[in-house]
Amino acid sequence: MDSATIDSTTKDVLDALKSVPGALLPILHQLQEKLGCIPAEAVPNIALALNLSRAEVHGVISFYDHFKGAPAGKHAVKICRAEACQAQGSVALERQIKEQLKIGFGETSADNSITLEPVYCLGNCACGPSIQIDEQVYGKMDGAGFQNLIQKLNTSVSKQTPVQTPTAQSNLTPKKTIKIYVADDTSACALGADAVAEAITQEATEHNLNIELLRYGSRGLFWLEPLVEVETPQGRVAFGPVQVGDVAQLFQDGFYTGAQNSPLSLGLTQEIAYLKNQQRINFSRAGLVSPESLNDYKNTGGFVALAKVLTMSAQSIVDEVKISGLRGRGGAAFPTGIKWQTVLDAKICNSSNALTEKKYVVCNADEGDSGTFADRLLMEADPFALIEGMIIAGLATQATQGYIYLRSEYPKAHQKLNTAIAAAYQGGYLGSSIAGSEQCFELEVRLGAGSYICGEETALLDSLEGKRGMVRVKPPLPAINGLFGQPTVINNVLTLASVPAILARGAPAYNSLGCGRSLGTLPMQLAGNIKRGGLVELAFGTSLRELIEEYGGGTASGRPIKAVQVGGPLGAYLPESQLDIKLDYESFSGLGLMLGHGGVVVFDDSVNMSEQARFAMEFCAIESCGKCTPCRIGSTRGVEVIDKICSGDAQQRDNNLILLQDLCDTMEHGSLCAMGGLTPAPVRSALQHFPEDFGFTQPHGHAQPYEGTK
Ligand SMILES: Cc1cc2nc3c(=O)[nH]c(=O)nc-3n(C[C@H](O)[C@H](O)[C@H](O)COP(=O)(O)O)c2cc1C
Ligand code: SF4
Ligand code: FES
Repeated sequence: MDSATIDSTTKDVLDALKSVPGALLPILHQLQEKLGCIPAEAVPNIALALNLSRAEVHGVISFYDHFKGAPAGKHAVKICRAEACQAQGSVALERQIKEQLKIGFGETSADNSITLEPVYCLGNCACGPSIQIDEQVYGKMDGAGFQNLIQKLNTSVSKQTPVQTPTAQSNLTPKKTIKIYVADDTSACALGADAVAEAITQEATEHNLNIELLRYGSRGLFWLEPLVEVETPQGRVAFGPVQVGDVAQLFQDGFYTGAQNSPLSLGLTQEIAYLKNQQRINFSRAGLVSPESLNDYKNTGGFVALAKVLTMSAQSIVDEVKISGLRGRGGAAFPTGIKWQTVLDAKICNSSNALTEKKYVVCNADEGDSGTFADRLLMEADPFALIEGMIIAGLATQATQGYIYLRSEYPKAHQKLNTAIAAAYQGGYLGSSIAGSEQCFELEVRLGAGSYICGEETALLDSLEGKRGMVRVKPPLPAINGLFGQPTVINNVLTLASVPAILARGAPAYNSLGCGRSLGTLPMQLAGNIKRGGLVELAFGTSLRELIEEYGGGTASGRPIKAVQVGGPLGAYLPESQLDIKLDYESFSGLGLMLGHGGVVVFDDSVNMSEQARFAMEFCAIESCGKCTPCRIGSTRGVEVIDKICSGDAQQRDNNLILLQDLCDTMEHGSLCAMGGLTPAPVRSALQHFPEDFGFTQPHGHAQPYEGTK
């Protein structure tokens, strides 16, 4: 790449973006998209335009995994290394791929065709092991499947143009259009939904059938994807999981008439027990409507809540959310109404930049926890629910600017959100006059850049401001001093997307579900080594065993369950004997555990729990923001001590166990945020319940209730 190209591209990008608040990350994203990397020569110009030092710009580039200093190979291959994929065999897959390509992580093949990178969760955790090649995710991957993909990459000349949906040509009377649905969700496509859709289109042409192929979001029954549905007078009938090779036979069996002759027949979709028995509020539209159609949203109760709140005072909106009992779904389960009240009561601060002098609503769509994909599914299946929830949050707190901070690993969600936001602007629901009122709310998506810690709310705010994602000391709370120093609501995707249903139906309809102080529904995500992985939305209070056995059907391998990790990488491992625990905040916190974002990762008895404990420390070392010593240094020492425990003699094991417990205490009590504070949870639980995997005969860990941010 020559200097002239770098200079002119950098200039164009800076001219377009340098004035937007928190401009640095959007600039870096655009530059990388246009140039394939952020060349060192571009740094001085960026620094000059943004009035930053070169060191500051360089510090940001080097903080985020997504930004590269040099161009990568023609294709970027990313292998998911996180827990849910480990439970499905990703460690062996990683080894095979590295041997096949003869390169390690961060390296590019000799012919410059492939750069190999690690990634920590692609939101495809029910269908692992997962890999990503460029923007396309692939699930249930193995060595042979990977070899096939690479061969196709090397032989493909250009991307195939999609086949047009055929219309009847030869009949004299027009035939009735048959509606066929194939999800275009990330997980469905990772399992081959695009190819199945194309095969259906081609086969329909050969059968001279008039079909309309609709690509909506997924129902979240990922174990049945690619799921093909056909509209009939009785409702949609389902077939799955369908592979390209099944399509011709499906046509021969007359599946398009709704006939149930095929071994892949599942009957009426809404009668599938996994779906029928759920209590869907957040996911009531998933798979049923076009995620990009404002009309579909309006025709299914969308914007009813908004019309209602436009007649209410800000205080009465906040009061309704308080009464609903809604608690944050991002992990900490903080009452949403109380957070909103603080923002409503807070005053806008005077600042040196008038552009940023306003209150904000920030949606945390960073969803970095392994085993979780509910945010992604919602954004891909029903993005208007999130948009409406954010507008209502704005009206409730008098915030006029919204940002959705979306992880860069979710390109499909990015595209769908942008399309839906444009439609909402066009429909008059966003902008200077919401639904014809005098209220205004602006909304845009900002992309993260591959950093797990940017899911922590204060690190996220730093990242939105264009900085390294460093955790801030609290207080001040973001509700008082948040984005650009202004009062800021920061909520998870599911929290905000719950709001329209609460306001439309009234708080009592919502808080009649659930138990204790865990009210409403919780979208649980079944992942890892599980037979029927997917999204299960139920009122709080179901048992973990019921979820795993009745919905999940036990392990995919058919072997006994050994451990279940609930609540992401910072969650403890539960042994089989603890599966009767109820899925609600109080039951979990009572045992020193956390429900987190509702991710459930199942492991069978082939797992070695000392390796999982080691991974917990390793993950913390990789993703730590580095602000405090117990987390930054402690996690690295943690990996070393666990290695010594597992390789040493009995005496060394005992001595190192004392060290490890001491280290866990220090991390728990001395870390600034839950990243360092909770990493000991998976480690201690592994030692407590599976001592034999470390070479001990006695249990050694003990659950510690986390006392929260210091
Ligand atoms: C290390 C770490 C990672 C986090 N990642 C996420 C995340 O990816 N998504 C999320 O919504 N919350 C995440 N959180 C929780 C947020 O800090 C915050 O509590 C949440 O966004 C508040 O929204 P809520 O009240 O709706 O839950 C994380 C917290 C920590 C400590
Ligand atoms: S605990 Fe870790 S991630 Fe959190 S502030 Fe400290 S160094 Fe950063
Ligand atoms: S996709 Fe691998 S853990 Fe989520």
